[in-house]
Amino acid sequence: MPPNERVVQIAHARGPRDALARPLRDLRISVMDRCNFRCPYCMPRDTFHDSYRFMKSAERLSFEEIVRLARLFVALGVQKIRVTGGEPLLRANLADLVGDLTALPGGPDVALTTNGVLLAKYASELKAAGLARVTVSLDSLDPEIFRKLCGGFDELEAVLAGIEHARRAGLTPLKVNTVVQRGVNDAGALDIAARFRGTGVVVRYIEYMDVGNRNRWQPDLVVPSAELHARIHARWPLVPLSRNYVGEVAQRYAYADGEGEIGFISSISQPFCGDCSRARLSSDGVLYTCLFATHGLDLRAPLRAGASDEELLAIVRERWTARADRYSELRATLRAGAAQEPKVEMNYIGG
Ligand code: GTP
Ligand code: 5AD
Ligand code: SF4
Ligand code: SF4
Repeated sequence: MPPNERVVQIAHARGPRDALARPLRDLRISVMDRCNFRCPYCMPRDTFHDSYRFMKSAERLSFEEIVRLARLFVALGVQKIRVTGGEPLLRANLADLVGDLTALPGGPDVALTTNGVLLAKYASELKAAGLARVTVSLDSLDPEIFRKLCGGFDELEAVLAGIEHARRAGLTPLKVNTVVQRGVNDAGALDIAARFRGTGVVVRYIEYMDVGNRNRWQPDLVVPSAELHARIHARWPLVPLSRNYVGEVAQRYAYADGEGEIGFISSISQPFCGDCSRARLSSDGVLYTCLFATHGLDLRAPLRAGASDEELLAIVRERWTARADRYSELRATLRAGAAQEPKVEMNYIGG
């Protein structure tokens, strides 16, 4: 057995548990801080304007660096890898990276989250590279509201075509993520369910969260999942489904008439930190142990300074072992407290 494989196997046998006994199971890798949308809740134009300084290519981890780190995370127990952005499909030759990630020893489940604009172009290539499935963000089917929510782009038809291409390419179960904001897109929320019922596409409604520092989040913008569930259930009766795996963020339901499945992600009304096994890696190689983190741990520096696999494994293991994050459970207390430090931004670490 090559020495590297041995290190990896030994590490796997003793995957770390964090301070709340949670294992490390998921790795979300942001491969690109740029995006071809300017959703006001994520990359508002007044900040992300034409002269905004995004990362230089050399600052982003190379594919080789990402694959090396991913391999070590798999050794520590990661079973699912989600490739995110910004918009991951803006990263040149993304399918090559996907191919390398799916080929890692341990065969992790590899998925992609995208805004869908470029999906029609890349779906077949990604499938051929071994990608299992995709999740597409789509907040409205109303062209005007869609335009407003993505920062002024007439790309609704492109996104719908992307979803269709991905579905036909077999990137399934294909999921659609819909972030619901009261008074913004909640009136049309059921149109999305109606559109995808019976197609195999799983729509998941996400409670609007206070991620980052720029989205002017207010509790009254949140539509609690229970309210949305009641509206949908009244029109198409729903039957609860058991979860697919420990730590799944969505509560799943089937349509009683057999027309498929939907989900609710209720980070505000029913926080799910207790099972959270997710680590996030930014495109410049900083490790975050919570979506709402204020600080991360730079892995790029040791990586580029020539750290060995053993050294990198020890760094990540130590960080994970010390992890005590549970922001969503503490949200109310933390928000009521003294001025907080700035949180990491969503475009930088993906959702
Ligand atoms: P699969 O079950 O593998 O399809 O993945 P998933 O359910 O984790 O789906 P996805 O990665 O698309 O996550 C859906 C959304 O849930 C994200 O875009 C976030 O808005 C939210 N979310 C995911 N992970 C977390 C988390 O750790 N904390 C919080 N608060 N929200 C999360
Ligand atoms: N609250 C909830 N979900 C969000 N996303 C982006 N910003 C927020 C927010 N404030 C979602 C996107 C996408 C995923 C990456 O995260 O819609 O589906
Ligand atoms: Fe919108 Fe996603 Fe791009 Fe953020 S990363 S601006 S949520 S499409
Ligand atoms: Fe995990 Fe942090 Fe989300 Fe809680 S708030 S589920 S700890 S990422």
